[in-house]
Amino acid sequence: MELYTTIASIKEALEIGRSKGFTIGFVPTMGALHIGHLSLVEEAGKLCDIVVVSIFVNPTQFNDPNDLANYPRTLESDMKLLSPIRCDCVFAPTVGEMYPDPDQRKFDFGNLERVMEGRFRPGHFNGVAQIVSKLFDIIRPNKAFFGQKDFQQLAIINELVRQKGYPVEIIPCPIVRENDGLAMSSRNRLLLPQYRECAPLIYITLLEAKKLSSKKSVEEIREYVVDQINGSNLLEVEYFDIVDDRYLTSIENWSTSGGKIGCIAVFAGKVRLIDNIIFDL
Ligand code: PAJ
Repeated sequence: MELYTTIASIKEALEIGRSKGFTIGFVPTMGALHIGHLSLVEEAGKLCDIVVVSIFVNPTQFNDPNDLANYPRTLESDMKLLSPIRCDCVFAPTVGEMYPDPDQRKFDFGNLERVMEGRFRPGHFNGVAQIVSKLFDIIRPNKAFFGQKDFQQLAIINELVRQKGYPVEIIPCPIVRENDGLAMSSRNRLLLPQYRECAPLIYITLLEAKKLSSKKSVEEIREYVVDQINGSNLLEVEYFDIVDDRYLTSIENWSTSGGKIGCIAVFAGKVRLIDNIIFDL
């Protein structure tokens, strides 16, 4: 495993592999790695000859300066976690390397960027598109791996690839959870003990909502989820919506055709957690 911090050096290394006909699998991350991230890296190792992981806390996707300041930065332990699994290149550039000049680009993802995360984190997906497009230009991967935990991000990335015509296949990877059901997240380590204790209620409620969906209307399920989670007193729902899985528009009836997914954001104290569940009705 080799660590690269400059664009020129990783490009040069990958050019050698590419000229030998090797395929490149890419896992973009912001570090503070956990088993969820590692599952993406392992999947890349199964499907590609060279595995590249980027570790970069991207300032342009943070709408809250405190969130950016508090985001865990743990390069040394990240490298240790990656060492037992197949990861050929780690790309960990500085902010100056990725943004020598401010990135003024504005992307347009229509409804996909206006709902849910887009509504509550203005500019977030524009920042994600800025960094992911820069990384795709540098790494030029054959396949790139994204977690379904960030379901809306995955939809945005698919749209980015469609709009810009990147020759990359996007591989969605399932959510990895702690034993108690809490979706793994770099932010979980920021949870104070009392919040960590009640955070599994998010997934427990989503599972229960899925069970109840054969008996209750979409609106009743929306209310149920918000009431259950807010009822804990420690957790506060920012949004919960049930949307179609392609355009992310709110659905009113279970009879709506296509996949349906419930997406949630919850504050556990100052820490914001997201999760989702597929309703296979
Ligand atoms: P980050 O939050 O570090 O996540 C990196 C990748 O790991 C994302 O594709 C995310 O969906 C996936 N992931 C995180 N937790 C997961 C879990 N519990 N199970 C499965 N996959 C999980 O997402 C980002 O970074 C950034 O926005 C990025 C795409 C790197 C752009 O800066």
